[in-house]
Amino acid sequence: MPKADLVVVANRLPVDRIEDERGEPAWRRSPGGLVTALEQVMKTVDGAWVGWAGKAGLTVEPFEFDGTQLVPVSLDEEELESYYEGFSNGTIWPLYHDVIATPVYKRSWWDSYVRVNRRFAEAAAEAVGEGGVVWVQDYQLQLVPQMLRELRPDVTIGYFHHIPFPAYGLYSQLPWRRQVLEGLLGADVIGFQRVADAGNFQRSIRRVLKFTTKSDSITIPQPDGTSRTAVAKAYPISIDAHSFIELAKDPAIRDRAREIREQLGSPSKVLLGVDRLDYTKGIRHRLKAFGELLVDGKVKVGDVTLVQVASPSRPGVEAYQDLRDEIELTVGRINGDYDTINHTAIRYLHQGFPREEMVALYLAADVMLVTALRDGMNLVAKEYVAVHTDNRGVLMLSEFAGAADELGSALLVNPHDIDGMKDTIMRAIEMPESEQSRRMRSMRRRVLENDVERWGQKFLADVEAFRAARTRRGEDAG
Ligand code: G6P
Repeated sequence: MPKADLVVVANRLPVDRIEDERGEPAWRRSPGGLVTALEQVMKTVDGAWVGWAGKAGLTVEPFEFDGTQLVPVSLDEEELESYYEGFSNGTIWPLYHDVIATPVYKRSWWDSYVRVNRRFAEAAAEAVGEGGVVWVQDYQLQLVPQMLRELRPDVTIGYFHHIPFPAYGLYSQLPWRRQVLEGLLGADVIGFQRVADAGNFQRSIRRVLKFTTKSDSITIPQPDGTSRTAVAKAYPISIDAHSFIELAKDPAIRDRAREIREQLGSPSKVLLGVDRLDYTKGIRHRLKAFGELLVDGKVKVGDVTLVQVASPSRPGVEAYQDLRDEIELTVGRINGDYDTINHTAIRYLHQGFPREEMVALYLAADVMLVTALRDGMNLVAKEYVAVHTDNRGVLMLSEFAGAADELGSALLVNPHDIDGMKDTIMRAIEMPESEQSRRMRSMRRRVLENDVERWGQKFLADVEAFRAARTRRGEDAG
C-alpha cells in the first residue's frame, strides 16, 4: 500500500458494508457529515482513512474507495462490548455529556480501550508517509495521539473532539483522567466545538498535570528537560451547506415536502424533531412539553402535528434500550389520548432516512425542535437553517447545544424548563413571517459563511504550521 500524506483515523470508516443486487458484499459511502466534509480534502491529497468497518469479527484488507485508501481495523465481539459499547459509550459518552446518564467505570473496559486505541495507532503509523499528517477524530480514540507520537515522532498530529469536554468537577471522576489527558496531548493541535470545551480541557490540564497554559497554547515538559507546545482551541464544525441548498432546490424534493404535509392531514403547523435516539437529545423533555400543550388545549390535533424521527443508535447499550422503552411508552400514551382516526399528535419514526427525505422533512416543517440536554454541536440545527432558502421556518434551539454559540438568532431554550419550552413552542407556532425571516436570514448567513470546508481548512492550516516548524527544525539539525 502506498504511504499517505494525510491519514484520518476515526472509529468508523466512511463507508458502510452492504449487499449489492447480486447479494455480494459491497461498500457504500456513509451519509455522515464528517465523511462529506473530508471527502473534498482527501481528494486533493494522497489520503488514507483508518477505521472500523462497523461489524464485529469482520476482517478486511485495505482497499481503495473513490481515490482514498481505506484501512479497516477489526474488532471482535468482546471488544465491541468493552471498547465501543463499554468504555466509549458507557463511560466517556455519559461523563462528557455532564453525567445525564450515570457513567460506569470498569477496569476491564479501560484495558480494552487501551488495547484497541493501540491497534488504531499502529494502523495509522503504518499508513502515513515520512513527515505526513495524521488527523484523529473523536472520543473513542483519545489515546491514539500519544501512542502515535511514540511510534512516529516525524508525524504532525491533529485531534478533533466532536462531543463536549466537561468541567473539571465532572471530568475528575474518571479513574484514568491522567492517562486520557496525556493521550490527547500527544497531538500538536487539539480542536473542540466550543470555546468553553477548550477552556474545560485546559483547566483539567492545569489541575491534573500541572502544565502551564497561556491563551490557546499548552507547554508540555519533555523528559530531556526541553518543552514542546500544543494548541487547544475551538473550531466549531459545520455542514456542507451548498449540497443541502442544492437538494432544497430540487423540484422532486420540494414536491415531496408538500406531499409529506398532505399525508400528515394538512395541519396548519408541522413541528419536527430529528435525532439519534440518545438520552443527550432531550427527546423526553420535548415530548413532555408538547404533551402538556395538548392537555392544556393550547394546541389541537389536526392543527399541529409533531414529527419525531429518532434514528436507531447503540442498541447494545442498556441506557439506550431503557430510553427507547420510555419514549415509545410516552408517544403511545399521548397518541392514544389525542389521535383521531385521520390525524395524529405525534408521528414517531424509529428509522434512519436518506438525505433527500431529510431535506424534504426540513422543508415541510414550520418549526424545528432541537432540545438537547447537552450536544457537542448539533448539525441538524444547521441543516434546517441551510435548506430554508426562503427564510421561513423557526428554529428552537437548546442553549446546551454547541450550535447555540453561532445561532444566537434561534429561539434559545433551556430544555429542563418545561414551562419555558411550552411558551417557546407557542411563540414559534405563532411567530409572524417577518420575524421568522429576520432571524432565519442572520442564521443562514452564519451557516453559509462557516461551512464544513472552512472548518477543515482552518484546522488543517494550524496543523500545517506545526508541520512547517518541524521541517525547519529538521533542516536546522541536519
Ligand atoms: C456522535 C459522535 C460520533 C459518532 C456518532 C454516531 O456524533 O460524535 O463519533 O460516530 O455520534 O454514533 P455511533 O456510535 O453510531 O458511531
